[in-house]
Amino acid sequence: MNIILLGPPGAGKGTQARILADRFGLVHLSTGDMLRASQAAGTAVGLEVRDIMARGDLVTDDIVIRLIEEEFDKGASIAGAVFDGFPRTLGQADALGMMLERRGDRLDAVIEMRVDDEALIARVTGRFTCASCGEVYHERTRRPKVDGVCDKCGGTRFVRRDDDNERAMRHRLYTYYRDTAPLIGYYYAKGLLRSIDGLGEIEEVAARIAAALPKAEARP
Ligand code: AP5
Repeated sequence: MNIILLGPPGAGKGTQARILADRFGLVHLSTGDMLRASQAAGTAVGLEVRDIMARGDLVTDDIVIRLIEEEFDKGASIAGAVFDGFPRTLGQADALGMMLERRGDRLDAVIEMRVDDEALIARVTGRFTCASCGEVYHERTRRPKVDGVCDKCGGTRFVRRDDDNERAMRHRLYTYYRDTAPLIGYYYAKGLLRSIDGLGEIEEVAARIAAALPKAEARP
């Protein structure tokens, strides 16, 4: 099963992609995580994209398509993949369709996560992540069970993203509505779009996504 999680910044794509990957044995492919890893490793791509990402602009299609092709092949799972933050342009969507077709594979569903803009800004400006394992938290809605200690790995250092401030976030939203929102119509026309309400408790949203998936079966 190959699924795209489509939605504006802060819609909960990363949070839900991790749940889906775990529940259905899918590979989680996040272009944002891949690009941040390139920056942390100091690669040429990482240096090229640093300022673009901090501003909230999109990285060029050729860079993200190359990254996704490499990672898809590396992490190929029989169960499939959940794409988080990719595709983000019509060019990327065409490239993904061709990439899957070349591998004799296909897309099963595109889940559009709807969240209102004010809630998105509150979510993103309150986000922090574990520096060791990348687990995502929020100042108000998802704090570690023990203050200052990551629930998942026990790490004690947390970081915030350069683009998680209100100014960059408003620009990311503008970029989303200009470049990425046209994918909603693109996938609707292909009969793949399922829209769900992304507001509510994380587990409630996960249940809505599971219910929207075509004949999905959770692993025991
Ligand atoms: P990327 O890393 O993909 O960021 P994004 O799309 O802006 O999305 P976010 O990671 O901010 O949010 P999310 O939807 O994953 O929400 P999350 O689950 O973390 O991209 C970053 C940048 O990289 C782009 O701006 C661009 O420059 C570049 N880039 C990446 N992909 C690209 C591509 N394909 N093409 C070109 N450029 C690309 O949740 C957010 C917060 O809310 C968290 O704190 C979380 O705990 C909380 N939360 C989650 N769910 C809930 C809930 N139900 N209720 C309350 N709080 C919740």
